[in-house]
Amino acid sequence: MSRILSAIQPSGTLTIGNYLGALKNFVELQDEHDCLFFIVDQHAITVPQDRLELRKRIKELTALYLACGLDPNKATIFIQSEVPGHTQLAWMLTCNTSMGELERMTQYKDKVQKQTAKGQGISAGLFMYPVLMAADILLYDVDFVPVGDDQKQHVELTRDLAERFNNRFGETFKVPEVWIPKRGARVMSLQEPTKKMSKSDDNPRNFVLMTDEPNVIRKKIKSAVTDSDGVIAYDRQNKPGISNLLDIYSAFTSESIESLVARYEGCGYGQFKSDLAEIVVAELEPIQQRMKELLKSNVIDEVLDAGAKRANQLAFKKVKKVEHKMGLGRKK
Ligand code: TYM
Repeated sequence: MSRILSAIQPSGTLTIGNYLGALKNFVELQDEHDCLFFIVDQHAITVPQDRLELRKRIKELTALYLACGLDPNKATIFIQSEVPGHTQLAWMLTCNTSMGELERMTQYKDKVQKQTAKGQGISAGLFMYPVLMAADILLYDVDFVPVGDDQKQHVELTRDLAERFNNRFGETFKVPEVWIPKRGARVMSLQEPTKKMSKSDDNPRNFVLMTDEPNVIRKKIKSAVTDSDGVIAYDRQNKPGISNLLDIYSAFTSESIESLVARYEGCGYGQFKSDLAEIVVAELEPIQQRMKELLKSNVIDEVLDAGAKRANQLAFKKVKKVEHKMGLGRKK
């Protein structure tokens, strides 16, 4: 059975971009693979966080994982900081990574711009972020990493680091493949459809949150920017707004874009948006309900305890192997 691993940062409430690019696919993949899905709180602190807010979001993200249908009997669900092997391996990989490789990461460059615009400094952690992500993956001998399009470059770096380490120190890491969904891999902002939908965006009209009330969802989708020619067609370049909505519709329903375009021929944007809003509400409302129930129960702690136990067993072995290959500690 092949092994799949992915993770999400508790850096804000998840958007439907995170859901379509990642979480929804995790649920589908868990039936046929050995899965590890976790919450990367150590990645979240690469930019300043309020400690109580962060704690709350970690718990909420676990509840969301479960509410979306992740089954702890099929997948190992845990918090990154509860498995010390992640940072231990990250340091050993850091010493085998060049500054130049990290400087080329587009997400780092974007985040530097964002932090600078906010008048905030750039932590060394933000720079090292992709190495910690490589450690997350390489600890577990993973076959596939399901992520949205924006994480592709990080998984490619992970592959490079694994190959380099294997060449230098002998076979140690499995080289993982990236797995990008056919639909919903890059959900764009509702008001500025040429930029990615992001949970850390300052303008709430740019995204739909997984926890938005039904009427808020309807309002945000109905006021999404489109264009003035009123034709429902897929053209990312010239019609980014309606193309994004088509992509979202297709990712929620699995109906192909071609079929949607044919079905909505001659219809106005109003009808299309209103149908899409109902589809999104129908999928998110039960998830929100389950999430509320889970947050009141003990299930979250039980799942996280069991998940950390299994992840630690796997991670410990790999850390010891890498330390041995690099000559750290004593021979016992
Ligand atoms: P994060 O927390 O930013 O996003 C979580 C997942 O959501 C996807 N995603 C999107 N997909 C489609 N459209 C969007 N607008 C959109 N925005 C985000 C992301 O691609 C991701 O799959 N570095 C990672 C977390 C991470 C990780 C890992 C992932 C840490 N270690 C190991 C996989 C394996 C991140 O910041 O994701």
